[in-house]
Amino acid sequence: MNAVKYAYGMCFVLLGVLLSPVQASGGKVEGLVKAEIDLGDNASLQRGAQLFVDRCLSCHSANLMRYNRIGQDLGLSDAEVKARLIRGADVKIGSTMQSTMPAALANTAFGVVPPDLSLTARSRGADWLYSYLRAFYVDPARPLGVNNLVFKDVGMPNVFWREQGEQVLTKGAHGEAVLSLVKPGSMSPAEFDGMIGDLVGFMSYMAEPAVLQRKSLGLWVLGFLAVLLVLVFLLKQDYWRDIKK
Ligand code: HEC
Repeated sequence: MNAVKYAYGMCFVLLGVLLSPVQASGGKVEGLVKAEIDLGDNASLQRGAQLFVDRCLSCHSANLMRYNRIGQDLGLSDAEVKARLIRGADVKIGSTMQSTMPAALANTAFGVVPPDLSLTARSRGADWLYSYLRAFYVDPARPLGVNNLVFKDVGMPNVFWREQGEQVLTKGAHGEAVLSLVKPGSMSPAEFDGMIGDLVGFMSYMAEPAVLQRKSLGLWVLGFLAVLLVLVFLLKQDYWRDIKK
């Protein structure tokens, strides 16, 4: 009898663990926007990978990610990976993602070497990244002419200024910092947010490539536990049938 109660108990403990929200690592920053990402949307992740290669790898690297792994996980053939994501004749399909800019040159240009972005979605969080990439504003006092509401005095230029347009920092009704678009970019704000969502989705996948398998496996485990719960319940009824009479 105890065994049945134990099995019951374990089922609930397991369910509790599986259903409890995972705590995001890193400290909480006020005013972050929730990242609109969908890790189940392969087309979005593929667009994100393309953006990352075209717009970020010129300065940043992703030392922990290999091109062929992206292909396998996001459903691209080796030929597609080569055509769409690999730049440079000496870069192989099994290579890790290296920046095209030498570290010393980056240091001279920006006063800091742009950090490796493999794990940034985990160290900073997806919401931080999503907010950061949308929070550049014009600030003539800064060397590159831009500042960032989420990362004060950042040394990175706004690489999406053409798409986003120009934002300035203003004060809201309660004295809070608000960013207002003063010059529209080539994209509407909704289109721009969608693009940043694709990019942050890819960076979240990159920070934990097993996330795709983990999520689908999690559903199977929950299904298994549900079936087990029914079986264990029937077993309990059977054990107690004679005693209850
Ligand atoms: C022109 C060079 C350049 C490009 C292109 C660039 N960055 Fe940066 N980025 C930098 C520099 C320099 C820093 C360091 C800023 C600092 O520490 O002040 C930085 C910092 C960052 C950080 C902060 C990292 C941290 O945890 O401190 C993130 C996130 C980031 N970049 C994301 C991106 C993404 C995503 C792209 C592509 C859309 C991109 N960057 C394109 C130069 C660049």
